[in-house]
Amino acid sequence: MNEPEIKQNVREFYDQIGWKKESDGYYQNARYEDLRPVSAEYIHRCHLRITPYFSDGGKFFLDAGSGPVQYPEYLTYSMNFEKRVCADISITALIEARKKIGAHGLFVVADIANLPFTAGAFDGIVSLHTLHHLPLDEQEKAWMDLIRVLAPKRTAVVVNGWTESKMMKKWQPMMEKMEKIGRLIARIRGKELKKDQKGKRAVSDTAQATGTFVQKLDASWIRSKLDMPGILSVDIRCWRSVSVRWLRALIHQPFGRLALRILFRNEEKRPEFYGEYGQYPLIIIKKIAHSETEK
Ligand SMILES: C[S@@+](CC[C@H](N)C(=O)[O-])C[C@H]1O[C@@H](n2cnc3c(N)ncnc32)[C@H](O)[C@@H]1O
Repeated sequence: MNEPEIKQNVREFYDQIGWKKESDGYYQNARYEDLRPVSAEYIHRCHLRITPYFSDGGKFFLDAGSGPVQYPEYLTYSMNFEKRVCADISITALIEARKKIGAHGLFVVADIANLPFTAGAFDGIVSLHTLHHLPLDEQEKAWMDLIRVLAPKRTAVVVNGWTESKMMKKWQPMMEKMEKIGRLIARIRGKELKKDQKGKRAVSDTAQATGTFVQKLDASWIRSKLDMPGILSVDIRCWRSVSVRWLRALIHQPFGRLALRILFRNEEKRPEFYGEYGQYPLIIIKKIAHSETEK
């Protein structure tokens, strides 16, 4: 697939599937999250890790690839800003976002690799789980465009999973074992697990989710592309060190909540370590000054 085809494919996926509500009232896209009560506190606290970076507030806050602003914690990021500008390639996402934030929002159908805003227009920027939908060269363009539209002395926060998390790789054999046990228990209880696309094996929701185009990356790529002394400072910390697959395989009652409290505390103690080796980094960009090309 070439770049326009990838974007068309992603847009169609979110317009027609990802942001359509299912019978349980959740968006189809929420299927990629762990929505079980046992994980709720941990996931809530991870979402809130972003909020303090935007405590200064300002005029315009950009949510790049906003989706429908799907979780309540997301609202806290722009609470000190006059307007939250939701930019997304999917019109369905923006119609849903408008239902959530109404007059606080401005809604723009846009491609994050070609943002239609002037340099320095935003006092804060967040982009969550979006950059991986672009091919690698377009991801670089998108990073540069996010930086271009950020005002000097302001912060952008990006969350995007690594292609391969060293921590999750270590856990892989254990996850597979636990998934096998889970399938066995489900069979004993007479619960029918979903089949894969060939109708052969029972698989978890996460494994089954084919979704749309995804290309993730690693910390050295980020550091090399964003190495701009005097223009930017870049910090990689932890948003959430474990994948949804890990949570579903390993976290269960009665000890699951406690295990996640311990994990969260460890992530807080060593955010750089868990950011680099865990699944989801929190990439914090502080813009020092405009680059020559932006002026
Ligand atoms: C996984 S969803 C994440 C949505 C939201 N940020 C969240 O965390 O819930 C990815 C979003 O990025 C949007 N998107 C994908 N490629 C895009 C692009 N090139 N420009 C703008 N938005 C894009 C999709 O339409 C979708 O709404």
